[in-house]
Amino acid sequence: MNRILRGITPAFLLCCAFQLASPAVAADARACDSGNEQLDSSLFTLQESNNTYLPDLAKIFEAAGAKATVSQVLDSANRAMSKGSAPGSPDEAWLWNSGDSTTTKWIPQGTTSSGDALASGTYEGRNVWLVSWYQAEGDGNVRISFVDRATHQYRHVLLVEPSAKDNFKSVAIHAGGIAWYGNALYVVDTSKGLRVFDMDNIWTVDIADGVGKTSAGKYTANSYAYVLPQSRSYTWQASSSFRHSWVSVDRADSPDTLLIGEYQTTDVNLPIRLVKYPLDYTNRRLQNTNGVVTATWAHCVNILRMQGGFARNDTFYLGRSNNANTNSDRWTWSPGSSAKISTGFFPPGVEDLSYNEARKEFYTSTEHVGKRWVLSYKGEVN
Ligand SMILES: *[C@@H]1O[C@H](CO)[C@@H](O)[C@H](O)[C@H]1NC(C)=O
Ligand SMILES: *[C@@H]1O[C@H](CO)[C@@H](O)[C@H](O)[C@H]1NC(C)=O
Repeated sequence: MNRILRGITPAFLLCCAFQLASPAVAADARACDSGNEQLDSSLFTLQESNNTYLPDLAKIFEAAGAKATVSQVLDSANRAMSKGSAPGSPDEAWLWNSGDSTTTKWIPQGTTSSGDALASGTYEGRNVWLVSWYQAEGDGNVRISFVDRATHQYRHVLLVEPSAKDNFKSVAIHAGGIAWYGNALYVVDTSKGLRVFDMDNIWTVDIADGVGKTSAGKYTANSYAYVLPQSRSYTWQASSSFRHSWVSVDRADSPDTLLIGEYQTTDVNLPIRLVKYPLDYTNRRLQNTNGVVTATWAHCVNILRMQGGFARNDTFYLGRSNNANTNSDRWTWSPGSSAKISTGFFPPGVEDLSYNEARKEFYTSTEHVGKRWVLSYKGEVN
């Protein structure tokens, strides 16, 4: 036995020396070999877990008369977008107010609409955009802009995670993509999976610093007036990693599905995949068996820097960012054929994409300082 092996136990030698030497070691079946093959979707699973504190915490806000609806948040909008013009040919390009447009503290990422939430396209009769921002400086937090598309006025709401029967804490994640489905807001949690927030429990809090319950028994959320609490999570199960970078709803699938995509800047040894998980429209959760959600479809794609996308069953629209001064590209793809590029279709910094079936429009937001638009493009995708 040579010196290097001397410290290694016989059990290791039995199990692993053979594997190291053997060319027949099974590769991870979730990996991408050719780069554009279909994968066995049964290997992609998420475990459902409910937040057990939410029901008790909800009772406290209900008893205090501190529960709000989506309409009430929209009617209390305290900021205004302005109409702009953006590179490419969007049908509408809206700018945040100047503070939100130029801040380096908050970075916009995810986009969804009332067209994802309900097939009618409206929620409580309102036409709404939701956009997620992660906090890039100071503490980690995520806020969601509720935009009333009738007025283009908006208000930010802070995401929180119930952490005790009488308290909540910050949600310190990247929030790259969001998808609204009924009363559930799905938010990606990069290496972990998805978190779900409960649109039936928007709470009003006191305007002051700090997130959670104060020593005086009040609730605050870093001076935001409303919080949206987490109700459950779906956690990635496999030992090999998956990057949950962005998410969208596919209403052309049966059942409806959530499409999740991976962002990678290099494909050396890293798979780039698209996966669909089945939604249950009766309770707005992911369909599962004893809490385990199994994907309905999984595929490799050879597109770097994919920041967002949506599918209409077999037609995929995907956005690729380049850099802050170069327009982003749009790819269209159907499995079995090669992807087609529309170079410079989107402005620089394209992010999450979302399709609105009721209005035959799709949306995205762009992230770079001073170049932050919410964009709408007309187009029917069957
Ligand atoms: C989560 O809560 C729902 C009810 O809202 C329940 O039906 C489901 O079984 C729970 N999931 C788990 C994994 O406990
Ligand atoms: C499209 O829908 C058909 C029928 O529901 C299904 O078999 C197929 O897997 C779907 N394609 C994708 C890419 O989801």
